[in-house]
Amino acid sequence: MKVFISGNIAPVGLKQLEENNITITQWKENRQITAEELIEACQDQNALISVGPNKLNAAFLNACSHLKVIALHSVGFDQVDVAAAKKLNIPIGNTPGVLSEATADTAFLLMLAVSRKAFFAYQKIIRGEWKKYEPSPELGIELNGKTLGIFGLGKIGLEMAKKCAAAYQMNVIYYNRSQNTTAEQEIGARYVSFEELLAQSDVLSVHTALTPETKNKFTFEVFSQMKSNAIFINTARGGIHNETDLIRALQEKVIWGAGLDVTNPEPMEKTNPLLYMENVAVLPHIGSATEETRAAMAKIIVQNIVAGLKGEPLPFEVK
Ligand code: DGY
Repeated sequence: MKVFISGNIAPVGLKQLEENNITITQWKENRQITAEELIEACQDQNALISVGPNKLNAAFLNACSHLKVIALHSVGFDQVDVAAAKKLNIPIGNTPGVLSEATADTAFLLMLAVSRKAFFAYQKIIRGEWKKYEPSPELGIELNGKTLGIFGLGKIGLEMAKKCAAAYQMNVIYYNRSQNTTAEQEIGARYVSFEELLAQSDVLSVHTALTPETKNKFTFEVFSQMKSNAIFINTARGGIHNETDLIRALQEKVIWGAGLDVTNPEPMEKTNPLLYMENVAVLPHIGSATEETRAAMAKIIVQNIVAGLKGEPLPFEVK
C-alpha cells in the first residue's frame, strides 16, 4: 500500500507507517504543494496524509476518488468538503484531543506577549534601538483579576481558561453554541451572550472551528463593541477574523492589542502592518508544534491510515 504525505510528520509516524509495510512518498519542497500538484501526486497512491491547508474540495476529491482514506494532520477540517468525501466513500480522519494543551499554551503565550509588548520590545533590540535603561518605554498592561472571554469553549478553550484562572485569577466568561456545564463547574465560567462577551472581555480568545457561522465573525463593527483596552487572541483559524478590519481597529485604538497564531491568508506577507505594531504578536501557525503533540498527532494519523487501508472504521473520523 502507498501513502502520499503533503509535508512532514513526526519521525515516529514515518517509522510506524514503514512497520506497517506502507510505502511513503513525501512532498519535500519548502512551499505548500499546489492543488494541481497534489492531484497529480495522489494518482498512484492509496492514501493521503494532508499536512497544511491543502484544499480538499469536491474538485480534488473527484479527481482522487480512488483514495481509500485521507488522514488530516490537524484537528481542524475546514479545508475539506466532508459531504463530497462522504458521497465518494472516502473516510476523513483528524487528530482530536491531543493538541488542546499545546494550542492553549500558544494562546496564553500570545496573551502575555501582547500584554507586555514583548515581540515589539525584542524587535527594538534587533534594530539596535536599546540604548539605555528606560523606565517608561511602551508600557504593558497587567492581567491579574481581569476578565477572560472565550469564544468557543471546547477542549482548547477550556485549557486556556484553566491556565488563565490559575495564573492570573482571571474571571472566565464564554460564548458557545450551547452551554458547557462541565466547564462551568470545573472553572466557574459564566455563559454569556456574544454581545456580553464583547462588552466584558479584557482578553477575548477565539477557540472555535471555522464554519459558515464563524467565518468573518470579527469585523470592525464587532471589534467596536469591545473594550478599548481589550486584547484579541486568535489561535483557531485566520478566517474567523477580518484582517483588514483588525488592522483598522488597532490603528484607530478601538481595541488595545492582538495576538495571532493564525492569519488570513497564510503565510502572512512580511509587509503586513500587524507585524510592525507595538501591541501585536504574530506567530506562524505553531499552535500545536511541540515534540510531544506532533508525535501524538503522528500516531493518530497512522492509526487512521492503517484502518482506512484495511477498509475498517477510522478510530478518529470526521463525521
Ligand atoms: C489544527 O490541528 O487544526 C491546527 O491548527 C493545525 O492545522
